[in-house]
Amino acid sequence: MSVAKKQYKRITVKSLSEMKANGEKISMLTAYDYTMAKIVDSGGVDVILVGDSASNVMAGHETTLPITLDQMIYHASSVVRAAERSLVVVDLPFGSYQSDPKEALRSAIRIMKESGGHSVKLEGGREVKESIKRILHAGIPVMGHLGLTPQSIYKFGTYTVRAKEEAEAEKLIEDALLLEKWGCFALVLEKVPAALAEKVASQLSIPVIGIGAGAGVDGQVLVSHDMFGMTHEFNPRFLRRYLNLYEEMGDAVSSYVKDVKAKDFPNENEQY
Ligand code: KIV
Repeated sequence: MSVAKKQYKRITVKSLSEMKANGEKISMLTAYDYTMAKIVDSGGVDVILVGDSASNVMAGHETTLPITLDQMIYHASSVVRAAERSLVVVDLPFGSYQSDPKEALRSAIRIMKESGGHSVKLEGGREVKESIKRILHAGIPVMGHLGLTPQSIYKFGTYTVRAKEEAEAEKLIEDALLLEKWGCFALVLEKVPAALAEKVASQLSIPVIGIGAGAGVDGQVLVSHDMFGMTHEFNPRFLRRYLNLYEEMGDAVSSYVKDVKAKDFPNENEQY
């Protein structure tokens, strides 16, 4: 029997919790700028993540580590101006919350005040307990992120699937339960076995949103540039491309160059 979906004018952390309770899957995509955020918001996505993947996608860095708090605030404020319905979650970048809970709170407050974002996301479990608690005490909603946590790439050494071994899987489940206990409103699970992700989602009452974590979770997130096919060198098994914009945009550029060279652009109707 199909369940009638509730219409939401504006998605809040409460809406996400209702969606999980009603068995409605949550859709989340990244955006880092106004134009992309307009497209994904008007397409009906529930959550826009201003991910620190902007470090890779927008700036061309190899990892997410170099992006700064000021840069994240710039990206997030552009996204917030476009988002009419979606909940905007902003990543706390590497170095802005790990060393000291007070600094973590200062970073989260800057994001909320200067970008207008609706919540923050940060990576890790018990290691960042005090930072999470302090941010939550200030009334700022926190989304957790476990499994493959790209800010720790130099600890892992590779971007392969995490928590395949029992000990790591158990630690992940414990951390997920702690994040829920401390008051996080949702959790991203990145690149972990589908069976483990499903187990976590069934044990938690907060929504679990997966990327490379199978279908048994409460929602899915993808990097929009990957899902639109604007990137073409990144080909993980979990990625479904809905368009092939890398090729289409490249062809459009070639046509434009050809038209300019041939003095075919602009024509009489395209000038004053
Ligand atoms: O930064 C990001 O885009 C993310 C997603 C991969 C979940 O954290």
